[in-house]
Amino acid sequence: MAAARTPLVAGNWKMYKTEAQAEEYIQALLPRVSSVDGVEVAICVPFTDLRAMVDSARGSRVEVYAQNMHQEPEGPFTGEVSVTMLSDVGVQGVVLGHSERRACFGETDRALALKVPAALEAGLRPILCVGETESERENDDTDRKLRQQIKDDLVNVPNERLAEVTIAYEPIWAIGTGKVATAEQAQEAMAFIRALVGDRDAQAADAVRILYGGSVKPENAAELLGLADVDGALVGGASLDPRSFAQIVQAGAPNEGL
Ligand code: PGA
Repeated sequence: MAAARTPLVAGNWKMYKTEAQAEEYIQALLPRVSSVDGVEVAICVPFTDLRAMVDSARGSRVEVYAQNMHQEPEGPFTGEVSVTMLSDVGVQGVVLGHSERRACFGETDRALALKVPAALEAGLRPILCVGETESERENDDTDRKLRQQIKDDLVNVPNERLAEVTIAYEPIWAIGTGKVATAEQAQEAMAFIRALVGDRDAQAADAVRILYGGSVKPENAAELLGLADVDGALVGGASLDPRSFAQIVQAGAPNEGL
């Protein structure tokens, strides 16, 4: 079953790298990942780097994703970048609902319910981020939080397209903190997310990719990426260096360790 899902290792740069720094990065990354088989690679970059990265990655195995978008093609929304603008630039996907956007910029489940299907309609691959805070985990509220986010954010995605959404499970307490979910915590939450998708559609549950995110590093990548329900990683800090990101990509390849 798991063999049918191609793993995805995505680097989330957040608000780092000018265009010149991005160029230097991609030239260092491409040769390091060109011969790794069986894993998809994406970098999720700031808006100002998108066009340069699309140009530099063209013809390579590295895909370029944005980190947010507005669901309308155009309109009076100062400061926003539309789904249509992203596909015009040649971007292949977009991160949606990252916990930093939810916590710092008021991203709501209502907005995500519009953004996820709009990305799919425009031919962009969405990575939808979900996850619990530290106090939600301590209060045994993790399952409720995940159930609510999966239900609300995917409400407008028809069952036959559910598997095209990549879901990133990112426990908020593990993001940028150096604290990593244990293998058991990650596997349990991710199996639960797969079961939630299964409540809607069994086939989609089998096919949907679920990434782990939160302090993934070269040192812990192999263990996390080897878990049964883990189909890749969303990597923040460790993706900023092309060498450590390439090591994580290698750990995501299916024959790693054989
Ligand atoms: P981190 O970030 O790897 O730096 O913890 C992950 C993320 O925010 O996607």
